[in-house]
Amino acid sequence: MSNASQPTIVEQAQDAASKLATAVQDTLSLGTSSEDAAKSGLPVIYVDEKAGSDSTGTGAELAPFATPLAAYQSLRPTPASDATPSALATFLVRKPDSVERNEWVEISASAKKKLVKSIGGWRKSEVKLAAEGERLEKERKAQEEKDALRREEAKSVVLVDDPSKEAKKTKIYAVPELIGSRVRIQGWVHRFRPQKTNYFLVVRDGTAMLQCILTGDCIKTLDALDLTTESTVEVVGTIEKVKEGQTAPGGVELLVDYWKIIGRAPGGSEAFEGRLQPDTDASIRADLRHLELRGEIATSVMRVRALLLRAFRDRFHARRITEVTPPCMVQTSVEGGSTLFEFDYYGAPAYLTQSSQLYLETVLPSLGDVYCIQESFRAEKSLTRRHLSEYTHLEAELVFIQFKDLLDHLESMICEVVDVLLADPVASEIIKTLNPDFVPPQRPFMRLDYRDAVKYLNEHGITKEDGTDHVIGDDIAEAAERKMTDQIGRPIMLIHFPKLLKAFYMQPLASAPDFTESVDVLMPGVGEVVGGSMRITDYDTLMAAYKREGIPSEPYYWFTDQRKYGTTEHGGYGLGVERFLAWLLKRYTVRECSLYPRWMGRATP
Ligand code: 4AD
Repeated sequence: MSNASQPTIVEQAQDAASKLATAVQDTLSLGTSSEDAAKSGLPVIYVDEKAGSDSTGTGAELAPFATPLAAYQSLRPTPASDATPSALATFLVRKPDSVERNEWVEISASAKKKLVKSIGGWRKSEVKLAAEGERLEKERKAQEEKDALRREEAKSVVLVDDPSKEAKKTKIYAVPELIGSRVRIQGWVHRFRPQKTNYFLVVRDGTAMLQCILTGDCIKTLDALDLTTESTVEVVGTIEKVKEGQTAPGGVELLVDYWKIIGRAPGGSEAFEGRLQPDTDASIRADLRHLELRGEIATSVMRVRALLLRAFRDRFHARRITEVTPPCMVQTSVEGGSTLFEFDYYGAPAYLTQSSQLYLETVLPSLGDVYCIQESFRAEKSLTRRHLSEYTHLEAELVFIQFKDLLDHLESMICEVVDVLLADPVASEIIKTLNPDFVPPQRPFMRLDYRDAVKYLNEHGITKEDGTDHVIGDDIAEAAERKMTDQIGRPIMLIHFPKLLKAFYMQPLASAPDFTESVDVLMPGVGEVVGGSMRITDYDTLMAAYKREGIPSEPYYWFTDQRKYGTTEHGGYGLGVERFLAWLLKRYTVRECSLYPRWMGRATP
């Protein structure tokens, strides 16, 4: 025994095993009869190899065990127990052929012998397990003592933030210009790799990432012991160029001489790394969007999103197109009633806007060409990879133009914005990483009349959902549209949709009034990213359109007035920012391109 007073679990178990072995002989000679058993006062335990169950059985007659070993184990003999089975209980066994007669007989001598053997095996594995448990417990205790000692030692290592040594507070994007300078940076620990003599930290501050190297006393502090990813830290040191043959973000690294944790992120079971794994379920990912946004892909998409909006604003500004901010709460629909979010606050039905188009049209006479970048809301009833219930809608309205001008404008805006992004070092690097095969669209875009598209679909075996051919007047469903676009493999301007498929405000084609001066821009991989048209300019035609669509004209008085007070040809479009990004960055779904995407059943976080 290792301890004078207390035997360990292992010792108890070993002792029990040896006692059990010597008891085998006695057990075999017990030879108890069934009657004796009943009289013995011992508990009776039932075993039925066929009908019993070791997992759900209790040993009662109506819930027997399947094996005598499980029955024995259910008696919870302690490891120290030298009890033979017969000393603990009476084992009654039912053979398959006596189930009907419900005949239970006492366990046979040979089955008893087998049982004692199995108990021996079980005890041995128990001994092993107990030994393993004791070893692990010893190791854990030793580690705890070691850790406590390390923490004691670490407490005495205190880094000094020497105020006499200047350190310029800066953001990481600026450090490549500060080689040789001492800088102070605050950010989050994106990654860290502790080594024996160095800690490599990649710190992120929202502008870029920086590799930081901690050595000497810097890795001996309490903070060094407590460091976890996603903790906020302050690091101070000298910026150096990375050594020949090595790489780091921005080509520089920080040799840290002072640092501290500002806010420690949890480790262990709550550690950041454990919360989002590549195989994490999609709905958990959505719940943890606030954490996912810290990841490299989501950050990259959001960075390009910001640069994309800036590029559009830049190209609008270059054309003297003015930005306006129309209301999001409205009392008219633009794209039909079926996707309206309705709410009751104003004493009359009101909605979240589906499109700012009608409002843009109203300011053409004052501001000329206008645009807005505003959230639009659609109570979409379908869950597709390109539909959100709230999305960022970039809309423009241009005055004194013809349909061809609208198409030319759209084409040049898209191409110029792509050029701006490819000329931007940050955006182009991200596009290269996320969409290495990206080819800027070639001008002119293919212009495909709706009627020719129907022909194309039929000639290429792209059917409707019900398997039949498309006919003129049919809506081209998302799947068919995407198939065609992917086959053609380049941007398409699908034009001249039938009047009955489109919104009430679209200008009819002069040559075929059942069709409209309308356009959808389709991009490979996504399908429609832009919807636009020329607008009805004539008062009477507009009134007739309201009537045809069953829309009461009164709430639209302010929109109709544009046709009264100096009407003119005009047109515009709406571009889905998330869809455009999904195309540019080759994302599977628009959900990846929205900061906090909303779709049917999801408005959290
Ligand atoms: O084709 P839509 O419905 O057109 C309009 O709303 C016009 N009033 C715009 C205008 O002419 N000013 O929508 C325009 C674009 C679509 O091409 C698509 O890119 C995007 O908005 N879009 C959506 N994006 C994500 N989720 C949804 N549910 C979307 N619905 C439309």
